[in-house]
Amino acid sequence: METSKHHIEPAAGRLGVLTVGLGAVASTAIAGVELIKRGLAEPVGSLSQMGTIDLGKRTEDRVSLIRDIVPLAGLDDLVFGAWDPISDTAYDAALKCGVLDQYNHIEPIGAVLKEIEPMPAVFDQNYVRRLDGDNVKSAATKRELAEAIREDIRDFKATRSCDRMVMIWCASTEIFIEPGPAHQDLAAFEAAMDANDEAIPPSMLYAYAALSEGVPFINGAPNLTVDMPAMVELADRAGLPICGKDFKSGQTLLKTVLAPMLNARLLGLRGWYSTNILGNRDGEVLADRDSFRSKEVSKLGVLEHSLRPDLYPQLYGNVHHQVHINYYPPSGDNKEGWDNIDIFGWLGYPMQIKVNFLCRDSILAAPLVLDLILLTDLAHRAGLTGVQEWLSFYFKSPQHAQSAYPEHDLFVQQTNLKNMLRRLMGEEPVTHSGSDHHED
Ligand SMILES: NC(=O)c1ccc[n+]([C@@H]2O[C@H](COP(=O)([O-])OP(=O)(O)OC[C@H]3O[C@@H](n4cnc5c(N)ncnc54)[C@H](O)[C@@H]3O)[C@@H](O)[C@H]2O)c1
Repeated sequence: METSKHHIEPAAGRLGVLTVGLGAVASTAIAGVELIKRGLAEPVGSLSQMGTIDLGKRTEDRVSLIRDIVPLAGLDDLVFGAWDPISDTAYDAALKCGVLDQYNHIEPIGAVLKEIEPMPAVFDQNYVRRLDGDNVKSAATKRELAEAIREDIRDFKATRSCDRMVMIWCASTEIFIEPGPAHQDLAAFEAAMDANDEAIPPSMLYAYAALSEGVPFINGAPNLTVDMPAMVELADRAGLPICGKDFKSGQTLLKTVLAPMLNARLLGLRGWYSTNILGNRDGEVLADRDSFRSKEVSKLGVLEHSLRPDLYPQLYGNVHHQVHINYYPPSGDNKEGWDNIDIFGWLGYPMQIKVNFLCRDSILAAPLVLDLILLTDLAHRAGLTGVQEWLSFYFKSPQHAQSAYPEHDLFVQQTNLKNMLRRLMGEEPVTHSGSDHHED
């Protein structure tokens, strides 16, 4: 197969990273980058920093660190800014959310974290009911609010001397919104902003502002945000990458490994009961029925696409899948993900799998934030526009082309991601089909 190296603009200069939301995930990601830059911690969990890639044919035995062959922005070139309705600096946010050890992981970089003060947010309690804050913008229309965000982006870029920018949604999960007429095309969306249509939550105003300012957008929560035709149209017109949605960090990460395993071995499934016990602010927000609905839809979609009940009705035609979230403050950010999986095998005999994942939510999400920032910036410099399906690896509910179903299998997603990197570097993709190629 003929391959040629894709043109990629060099990662020269500073990359401004604007996080919407400066809570547990954002502050843990930023603090981590600052510690890693100084050699005070290892980037555990980050494909862009620790991951390797096989190149060429099996006989060549060429393995490289991804960051050695792919021109990613360096950590020293990242400049962080944020918006949040709560005016805590990144230092205060990191202390309050209680993820990181104060003396080992916050104080050594305290001065840098204290400098990151959130800009006033576009925030509306109608979309995140269990949250309040006074660091907010006000304006007569949603369009004017979007314009105010655009001004923040331009100011940040100029005052912090950034060459490029990326925006990532690390803010609370908004209430569930069905795609409607206001989301179908850009003209309808802009008219809806002018009319203060309730179909336009704050997250869409941030995304609209980012894409209008030439800034790629990443959606880490299950909100609709850029997963609708109007935003895809805007991204395509502006020649910008977008991706989402909902970081795949804990329970769903496991689900997208276990479900494809059942499918691969043709083991049947009767039911999958998943519950989460968590006590952070995210858990508090998700205790609201309508925010939970966004999360529930995102978490539930996984099984259907992994198991393909349309192809295997005897095995997966009648699956009871439930997902629950229990807000329990003593747990803090230490989430317990508990799964009871009722499967059946040869001749229909029942068996059970129990999974008890005692995880740390933001510790799992932070490396995904870093990878997504660097890979989305790479996509931008490589001229990749619109929905970036190759980044599905990072998302619970991957945004995908309308003509295809979403890919949930973690290892298929990993292969797709690495094959895109191979293509960009003019290397042959792995096909898994012949002895000439490396298996991933
Ligand atoms: N931690 C994980 O493993 C994980 C996995 C998947 C998705 N997520 C999602 O990531 C998001 C962040 O999680 P977290 O644990 O950091 O939550 P968090 O509550 O600690 O932080 C969210 C922050 O967003 C701010 N916010 C809310 N609305 C805003 C707005 N309109 N503009 C600007 N800021 C706003 C809040 O004030 C808060 O500080 C949540 O939506 C969560 O569901 C997290």
